[in-house]
Amino acid sequence: MKRSDVVSTILAERKNLMPKNAVAKAYAPSNIALCKYWGKREQELNLPVTSSLSISLGNKGAMTEISVSGGPYDVAYLNHQPIDWISFFGKRLLAFLDLFRVKRDLHFTINITTNIPIGAGLASSACGFASLTRAMDLLFGWELKDEELSILARLGSGSASRSLWHGFVEWHVGIKPDGMDSYGESIADEWPELCIGLLILNEKEKPVSSRDAMQRTVTTSPLYSAWPAKVNRDLSALKQAINLKDFLLLGKTAESNAMTMHATMLSAWPTICYFLPETITAMNQIWKLRQEGLMVFFTQDAGPNLKLIFLEKNILDVKAHFPDMEIIKPFADGLG
Ligand code: DP6
Repeated sequence: MKRSDVVSTILAERKNLMPKNAVAKAYAPSNIALCKYWGKREQELNLPVTSSLSISLGNKGAMTEISVSGGPYDVAYLNHQPIDWISFFGKRLLAFLDLFRVKRDLHFTINITTNIPIGAGLASSACGFASLTRAMDLLFGWELKDEELSILARLGSGSASRSLWHGFVEWHVGIKPDGMDSYGESIADEWPELCIGLLILNEKEKPVSSRDAMQRTVTTSPLYSAWPAKVNRDLSALKQAINLKDFLLLGKTAESNAMTMHATMLSAWPTICYFLPETITAMNQIWKLRQEGLMVFFTQDAGPNLKLIFLEKNILDVKAHFPDMEIIKPFADGLG
């Protein structure tokens, strides 16, 4: 199944309609997976091997403004810098825009602004594609349902399918070859005391993109066969933890899930290692703090930085050990 067929199915009779508005603007939060999406069963549509579960980062995310450009080509800016169409993100963005070109000479002007560090493993492509999808919906006046927007956002980047909502989100693996049952769904439970700390340890560009790293893991890691069963156990544990507000279960499950994902990468060939010396130092510091009774856990994505997970009552103690960390309350007033 081609991506353009998925778009045709979702847009059906709206497919050939020109944009209704001159300009549209939409926001989407970034998200951090507590149970990771790691491996695709189909690469064209970004269909995952397993379901995954994330927490959105509230006011940390991307705002996208889109308009129809009068010119002969697309123009796009990321944080006010022109996007290079031959960069990794540029190519993905252009391929995504092509899906919505109702006439060959329809071009767009796009401004994406984010308030999270780009390239620091903080899912900037997730909130970028999710906000662009929402903005497209407004520009064309499609009025799609959130789950349809989630399917479209997934075509840009898998984790973008979870960035359409605040709070906890589950991305269902689905079984259909066209992926029409593989979309995000918001989990209603709120947890106002929950905090996420962004611990930026190194902002250098990552050696391997998450897209390439997950594919290399699927094809070469002897440990990958254990991953789907691990995800199933972790998903049930996380849902139970969220339901019962069992923080220790949530923290332990998220940390163990991330470490298992990295173990599959370490056993890939060539090895993929996102740990830097400062990553290991911070992990040891967190494990020591836990031994001393401070309940703080971490998760790590395809980069060297950590995201700390703790409760509001421990903010001052955690901050005392990690003074540069930025703290996010995913369920702060007005969100969730
Ligand atoms: C480690 O969503 O960036 O952050 O679908 O190829 O665009 P593509 O991959 P992407 O991968 C995210 C991987 C992860 C885990 C997660 O967010 O679940």
